[in-house]
Amino acid sequence: MRHKKPPFIAGNWKMHMTIPETRSLLSALVKAGPDLPEAQLVVIPPFTALSEAAKLLLDTLIQLGAQNLFWEEKGAYTGEISGPMLSDTGCRYVVIGHSERRQYFDETDGSVNKKIFAALKSGLIPIVCIGETLEEREAKQTIPKVESQLRQGLSGLSAAQFSEIILAYEPIWAIGTGRTATPAQAEEVQAFIRAKLAEKHGNEAASCAIIIYGGSVKPANSYSLFKEKNIDGFLVGGASLEAESFIQITKEAIRAYKEEQ
Ligand code: 13P
Repeated sequence: MRHKKPPFIAGNWKMHMTIPETRSLLSALVKAGPDLPEAQLVVIPPFTALSEAAKLLLDTLIQLGAQNLFWEEKGAYTGEISGPMLSDTGCRYVVIGHSERRQYFDETDGSVNKKIFAALKSGLIPIVCIGETLEEREAKQTIPKVESQLRQGLSGLSAAQFSEIILAYEPIWAIGTGRTATPAQAEEVQAFIRAKLAEKHGNEAASCAIIIYGGSVKPANSYSLFKEKNIDGFLVGGASLEAESFIQITKEAIRAYKEEQ
């Protein structure tokens, strides 16, 4: 029997937040942090705010992540940021293969795969995003799509490397639309992901894996989503831009977590 893991809640700020806005949001989160000891909180600001965020999060339990990286360590790649640069800035996590990057910046499962290896090499924990479009869901292609993203994106990872990554199931139709997957819809795919991981790396590794959900997560749905067996936390977009809603999402997940103990 799998025990529920403490909630892992990451706020993906996307292309939002200036430095003054970062200061104000983080000062509220840092203040609330001690009241949320059961959760692992991560904030994922834009590159321009990472350094300021790292200073503000020093000596707190809130961790820092970045939204992307390039797979080379350095060189003539104008506009790109490498794994060593992110580690140097104080990042512990990096989002890889977000659907917005796949959609607008031509990321593929192949580039996702290279980025995972680059992140691990730099000591960063990848948060790898997968998920289907509305058309794919309506055509009953959700499971084949997720399966193929897992197969290609995670190709070549050893069991040890695999144990260091976090998977985020983010159905594209639920991102920024206010149309959250129902707990049952999310659980169905998350359970499938865990079963696939078990097939490849064994039950023990699959059961330890952190698999989170993203797509219109709000204070009102956090509790019921986190109640599902295979949802270990959230990748929150819009609702992570305000301290109040991010904290409330966390409190609701903690409430569901405590009931399972
Ligand atoms: P929303 O929470 O705004 O739907 O965004 C989800 C997301 O894409 C997080 O990475």
